[in-house]
Amino acid sequence: MSKPRILLQLDPDVHPSVFDAVVAVDAGVEHLLQYRGVTVDQVPGLVHGAIFTRGPQDLKSTAIFVGGAEVGAAEELLRRILQTFLGPLRVSVMMDANGANTTAAAAVIAAGRHVRLKGATVLVLAATGPVGQRVVRLLAREGARVRVGSRVLTRAEDVGAKVRERVEAAVLEPLATARDSLAAAMQGVSVVISAGALGVELLPADVWQTCATLEVAIDLNAVPPWGIGGLEASDRAASRNGVICYGAIGIGGAKMKIHSAAVARLFQGNSQVLDAEEIYAIGRELEGAESTGREGGK
Ligand SMILES: NC(=O)c1ccc[n+]([C@@H]2O[C@H](COP(=O)([O-])OP(=O)(O)OC[C@H]3O[C@@H](n4cnc5c(N)ncnc54)[C@H](OP(=O)(O)O)[C@@H]3O)[C@@H](O)[C@H]2O)c1
Repeated sequence: MSKPRILLQLDPDVHPSVFDAVVAVDAGVEHLLQYRGVTVDQVPGLVHGAIFTRGPQDLKSTAIFVGGAEVGAAEELLRRILQTFLGPLRVSVMMDANGANTTAAAAVIAAGRHVRLKGATVLVLAATGPVGQRVVRLLAREGARVRVGSRVLTRAEDVGAKVRERVEAAVLEPLATARDSLAAAMQGVSVVISAGALGVELLPADVWQTCATLEVAIDLNAVPPWGIGGLEASDRAASRNGVICYGAIGIGGAKMKIHSAAVARLFQGNSQVLDAEEIYAIGRELEGAESTGREGGK
């Protein structure tokens, strides 16, 4: 009989994320152990508690989720967790601070539903935030030509350099995306993904509506004004001006499914490390299963 599923929720914030806790329970976690204000120095003690208690055959029933609002802090925790594992004495671990990995995965999968990403020109607005950086990384891995947008060119260049460290063959063009240069930035683009801060319009309607090459527009900002003017947060493959549009709520449903499936996946073995690419792969599997189901139901 398998042991109860235990998830250690390690969170650098003052309060461990309620959102992450609810998703974990709904994904089948039976005991959620929450730790707040976690620092890198505290990681070995916490991890030892997870790996030294159950026998090797039962380690797959214990897993770790790293969350919190600060992706940088969570990345440090993840690194330390992986260093603390001792060969086969390890448990599976997922990192989704700020929802960055699951949201980026859902956005890129939505784009790939309508456009062949390999070779496509994609503009990512506000590509410097935690979500935008992962969107760029996943698109680059898919072989898209990515225009990396920021209000400040050097910030866009920094993101480009960071992504190239992970994706050697990335085709990236860092850009300063001031209002008066947006039309030029949109030239030849087939997908635009806006990953800007809440309540800030980054792309006015008249700019994307006059872009002849645009096929898909995706906005991740859930607080009005929306990041892309003329869209609605609830858009899910809505056709507007001949462009397929997704808003933050339209992407949010898929994001939730990916998050939940990734947590459940943690308990299928004790050696999984779920970061952006692995979470994206889980999202792609779900997408494949759903489209097979749709075709089967025809
Ligand atoms: N749908 C979902 O399920 C879901 C889940 C998680 C997050 N989100 C949303 O995804 C978006 C991105 O999240 P994030 O955490 O990566 O965002 P973020 O760090 O708050 O901001 C991303 C970027 O927006 C730009 N920005 C910030 N303030 C701005 C301003 N006043 N005017 C213009 N640009 C500004 C900055 O880029 P530059 O300085 O380089 O221009 C910043 O790096 C947010 O809207 C978030 O709410 C959605």
